[in-house]
Amino acid sequence: MLKIDSVTVKIAGIAVLRGIRTEFKAGSLVAVVGRNGAGKTTLLRAIMGLLPLTEGAIRLNDVNLVSQPGYRRAREGIGYAPEDRVMFPTLSVEENLRLPCQILGMSRSDVDARLEQTLVVVPQLAELLCRSGSALSGGQGKMAALGRALMVGTKMVLLDEPFQGLAPVLANQYAESLRRVRDFAPNSCVVVTESNRSLLKDLPDETVILERGEIQSSEVEHAIA
Ligand SMILES: Nc1ncnc2c1ncn2[C@@H]1O[C@H](COP(=O)(O)OP(=O)(O)O)[C@@H](O)[C@H]1O
Ligand SMILES: [Mg+2]
Repeated sequence: MLKIDSVTVKIAGIAVLRGIRTEFKAGSLVAVVGRNGAGKTTLLRAIMGLLPLTEGAIRLNDVNLVSQPGYRRAREGIGYAPEDRVMFPTLSVEENLRLPCQILGMSRSDVDARLEQTLVVVPQLAELLCRSGSALSGGQGKMAALGRALMVGTKMVLLDEPFQGLAPVLANQYAESLRRVRDFAPNSCVVVTESNRSLLKDLPDETVILERGEIQSSEVEHAIA
């Protein structure tokens, strides 16, 4: 599904990612695990086109993402929940969820259908829809950021350290939502970064270990059909 081929990213002359080569497969939940500073966020930002590649290529199925500006990548069906998960404070949660679809020019009925689907995957959002984006707890903000990524991420969602700081009850609900993504979109791919691998429990099908900008190992936990 997503092929990352020899990707190097330099920031201020320093190679933050070095020769990354991996594939994220359709229907899988992939964990990207590494210490702080290993390059996890940089990898997600590079996939989203928020940082230029110094070398290499990234393809989603047959589409060369590198030739597309960042804003086009969401249109390819990739959703992203950054670590800081900013919600627009002057908008309601529902407006925050609808916004990326509206920016992509989707019709009202298509956005309604996406919202309905998202609420099935993340049911906790239903009671938050009318709240202001500024009135969420940290955990609620993470749920809302997951929902927002799912609104456009029909093929793939990239979630940056979603389990960090989540209380155990919320972490379980979050993990259940990720499992539900697969029930409703069996060919989609979910990528989760994490510095503390134990927080992911048995969730990942595959775990990619990043160390100082390089892939150290890649382990398949569950066979993917
Ligand atoms: N905007 C930036 N300017 C300078 N250095 C950066 C910038 N963004 C990331 N880095 C450096 O790149 C490395 C990887 O960062 P990052 O991708 O955020 O790691 P992680 O998400 O795994 O904690 C770190 O050494 C960090 O200091
Ligand atoms: Mg990070």
